Amino acid sequence: MLAITLLPLTLLLVSTVFALPTTPRYLKRATPAWCAGLGAGQFDTAHNFTLAALNTTLPNTNATGAPLVVGQAGAVDGAEYKVLSTYASYPYNDFPTMSLLNGSLIPVSDLGAQISDSQVSAGNAPSFIVTDSNLPAPAQIYCAVADTDPTQGTPYPTLAVNGDTDSFALCMDGSQNNVVWKPTADNYGAYDYNSCYAVRVQLLGLN
Ligand SMILES: *[C@@H]1O[C@H](CO)[C@@H](O)[C@H](O)[C@H]1NC(C)=O
Ligand SMILES: *[C@@H]1O[C@H](CO)[C@@H](O)[C@H](O)[C@H]1NC(C)=O
Ligand SMILES: *[C@@H]1O[C@H](CO)[C@@H](O)[C@H](O)[C@H]1NC(C)=O
Ligand SMILES: *[C@@H]1O[C@H](CO)[C@@H](O)[C@H](O)[C@H]1NC(C)=O
Repeated sequence: MLAITLLPLTLLLVSTVFALPTTPRYLKRATPAWCAGLGAGQFDTAHNFTLAALNTTLPNTNATGAPLVVGQAGAVDGAEYKVLSTYASYPYNDFPTMSLLNGSLIPVSDLGAQISDSQVSAGNAPSFIVTDSNLPAPAQIYCAVADTDPTQGTPYPTLAVNGDTDSFALCMDGSQNNVVWKPTADNYGAYDYNSCYAVRVQLLGLN
């Protein structure tokens, strides 16, 4: 009689044990919000890489694409704004490498400039602020995605912002060719919409 009453409990314990995930929870970090939906190749922390833009509609001259640097985007008293520009259109490189720190994209300055990334909304350029005083907390909105296809994948990880790898473009703003996320004609003259072409932003130097 005792054995019969214990049986359901034993079954319950056994099924509970086998329902546990195969990887213990403490070994598996949950996907952070800024990488949600980006698949198995996603990662949100990396050091010492550079960025490049690859045409997604037109043939490219090589697999790496046009090198990107941190370009100027105006200044106010005590702060400078920055965007991502092609080196070809902005031939200065004050931030020779980038870091991805827990979802924040942080250019690394040669000269110790304090820089933080900002939130990015549709139609706008991914941007940064440089300031010595009251540097804002960095926005955690970036993720990188390594192609996990061993046969025909892309060789370089792809940058995502707001969970999206597919909506970057290069657009002319004056003489600068800048990265814009989800470009729109309705941009208050921030860039020439007709000049925009779609690109994939790649992380170079990690492979
Ligand atoms: C980045 O690269 C430089 C030079 O190769 C090295 O000294 C430095 O430790 C690296 N930084 C990180 C965070 O890996
Ligand atoms: C790859 O092509 C781009 C132009 O699309 C050029 O700016 C860049 O320098 C080239 N990179 C290499 C490594 O040749
Ligand atoms: C992409 O194509 C445009 C239009 O042909 C060209 O001007 C530009 O240099 C190309 N950019 C890259 C990164 O290959
Ligand atoms: C990453 O950011 C999350 C959310 O802001 C925070 O909880 C976590 O401690 C951070 N991790 C590291 C390694 O900085």
